[in-house]
Amino acid sequence: MGFISLQGITKRYGKVTAVDHLNLEIEKGEFHTLLGPSGCGKTTTLRMIAGLEELSEGELFINDRCVYSVPLAKHVAAPDRGVGLIFQSYALWPHMTVYQNVAFGLKEKKFSKDRIRTVVTDMLEKVQMNGYENRYPSELSGGEQQRVAIARMVVTEPPAFLMDEPLSNLDAKLRMRLRSELKRLHNESGATTVYVTHDQVEAMTLSDRITVMQLGLLQQDATPTDLYNTPANLFVADFMGNPQVNKLDGAIAVKDGGKVYSSATGSLTVPLGDDIAGSVSEGQEVALVMHPEWLKASPTPVANSIEMKVYVSLMAGCETLIFLQSDGLSLVTREQGQSDFQADTKVWVTLNRYNLYDMGTESLVGTGGTGESCL
Ligand SMILES: Nc1ncnc2c1ncn2[C@@H]1O[C@H](COP(=O)(O)OP(=O)(O)OP(=O)(O)O)[C@@H](O)[C@H]1O
Ligand SMILES: [Mg+2]
Repeated sequence: MGFISLQGITKRYGKVTAVDHLNLEIEKGEFHTLLGPSGCGKTTTLRMIAGLEELSEGELFINDRCVYSVPLAKHVAAPDRGVGLIFQSYALWPHMTVYQNVAFGLKEKKFSKDRIRTVVTDMLEKVQMNGYENRYPSELSGGEQQRVAIARMVVTEPPAFLMDEPLSNLDAKLRMRLRSELKRLHNESGATTVYVTHDQVEAMTLSDRITVMQLGLLQQDATPTDLYNTPANLFVADFMGNPQVNKLDGAIAVKDGGKVYSSATGSLTVPLGDDIAGSVSEGQEVALVMHPEWLKASPTPVANSIEMKVYVSLMAGCETLIFLQSDGLSLVTREQGQSDFQADTKVWVTLNRYNLYDMGTESLVGTGGTGESCL
């Protein structure tokens, strides 16, 4: 059993099922992220783990102890579950200064005054809030309050951290810096962390494992790389797109005796490898899905490519996104560095890797491509 074990947990609010029979094992020391769009049930799940929400069905275990069971009518209250919490609304104690807020949990633990000063000072430095010790929460910006809330939770060293979008109020640079601090704090403390975000890049960069949810249902529970490279279904594939995946609807056809993917526009044909060919049948409706960097655009003709036209090219310094069109097909490719592709010029696109999904079940059929053009 995982350090935190969710067994068929369900939460209903009247007719709304916020979380639907969720099974999840979160291992000790793991940084585990719940990821999904607004309203998919992330906060509700975290609140149930924390003990702030009753379960409608199921059982919940923390550290081999049953903390909630609907069948056994068992309920361990939030403060007795041994987990630290930090929520979107990072309520600090308004009548206490920054220093007092962070020191509070350590006083409760009967730390000496000197030790408290060392720990609090060190922690405020980590979240870059040193110098703010004597301010009250009402004298801080939202992002500053959030950083103090992180410090307050982390100093008490609970065996598990539960965090609900703790970086949501911060500007991009600070969010990046605090991501590194959170990751380091996690590595150093060894505490099991359950982290909630709707930002897939944040989830990718921080997590050991990610659970993607939609409409209260688990969609996939996997490592960041597996989630990115082989999303289990079209919803996850679309959600993991950065900024978007290429999704081309089509069907399986037979050409020269072999099975091929044929786009609905008729302008793209991809021969299928043996392993995929064995699990699809002629006429089956499928979608080809590719991350932008799985395609390559060349300004000069290359073998096994399709000819397209540049619609627009967006150069961001470290990378360039190139939006392409031809014969009803629209694709986006990502080139490393600063590529100069002018609008309306011709390019030749190779396709080096893809995932194929069944349109009926929306599930992954298989992965093709070896890094060479598979056209
Ligand atoms: N107290 C409540 N009463 C009724 N419905 C609720 C309540 N709390 C949440 N819900 C509903 O349950 C669903 C899941 O909500 P939840 O807050 O868990 O979503 P979330 O994934 O955290 O979304 P967000 O990213 O916007 O924070 C939503 O449809 C929401 O409207
Ligand atoms: Mg939420």
